[in-house]
Amino acid sequence: MSSARRPAPSESPKQADEGEPCPDPDTPVIRLEDVSVTYPGGVEALRGIDLTIGDGEFVVIVGLSGAGKSTLLRVLNGLVPATSGSVVVDGTEVVGASAATLRQVRSRIGMIFQTFNLVNRTSVLNNVLMGRLSVVPAWRSTLGLWPAEDREAAMAALERVGIVDKAYVRASNLSGGQQQRVGIARALAQEPGLMLADEPVAALDPVTSRQVMGDLQKINRELGITTLVNLHFLDLAKEYGRRLIGLRDGEMIFDGDIADVDDDTFRGIYGRSITDEDLLAMGDSPTDGSEGG
Ligand SMILES: Nc1ncnc2c1ncn2[C@@H]1O[C@H](COP(=O)(O)OP(=O)(O)OP(=O)(O)O)[C@@H](O)[C@H]1O
Ligand SMILES: [Mg+2]
Repeated sequence: MSSARRPAPSESPKQADEGEPCPDPDTPVIRLEDVSVTYPGGVEALRGIDLTIGDGEFVVIVGLSGAGKSTLLRVLNGLVPATSGSVVVDGTEVVGASAATLRQVRSRIGMIFQTFNLVNRTSVLNNVLMGRLSVVPAWRSTLGLWPAEDREAAMAALERVGIVDKAYVRASNLSGGQQQRVGIARALAQEPGLMLADEPVAALDPVTSRQVMGDLQKINRELGITTLVNLHFLDLAKEYGRRLIGLRDGEMIFDGDIADVDDDTFRGIYGRSITDEDLLAMGDSPTDGSEGG
């Protein structure tokens, strides 16, 4: 992800005639080799994972509760140390890395959380500006001295997720979907090379879930930011993913193109039949954000 400079959120999206940035599987942003994670207490959350993810890919990870989805995202930014194996993110080995190296790796990773993780008592704009903390020196932000370019980058990020009109509203006064968009804008303001979203729509209703997934998809396509999303709902995974990874009991038992995924694939990943609970299953098909396939 450092091989070519990405457009900052403040830059205009690529014009249609330039084409979308194409995923480049030959430039790995992420490479896991034989990665295992055993938590204190003995739970083997990941077992022997081999995985390569190329620049600009949009990958959805599914699996039952406890399968290791969150752990997989957390080994990438070093929040959970791999017990064995190698985790290379953007050319940097994360396993055994120093605190300074981990800080550097994390500064290039935008995180999006199920519960949004906003500071509720402050404005939307201030929340997004916090994404700039990894870009600007800390003293500037603690003094509230955000330079114009940072404010512009934050506003551009808000514009990209369609809530620039909420910039001066307290975060707590927004709907869930709007709050998640603030979370996405905050991650974008960081100018990340990699976005990790851990069940970003689990707290949202079906319509809002699709809008938020559409935002993530659009950002991936327009800015070419490599994106990994953990999802619970299998229909949503099929609708928005390009590549699907299936985890079961800490093992990667599927890795392939979403076009090759069928009900049997999902049954294999879940080890049981698919139920209504596994589907977002709503009547109307999406009107935006998804082109299907
Ligand atoms: N900090 C921890 N200490 C000990 N065990 C843990 C810890 N975090 C997760 N685990 C265990 O590791 C396994 C994988 O957990 P993980 O959170 O990665 O699963 P998940 O697929 O994200 O599940 P969910 O869909 O419920 O979020 C589970 O058995 C879980 O109980
Ligand atoms: Mg999880």
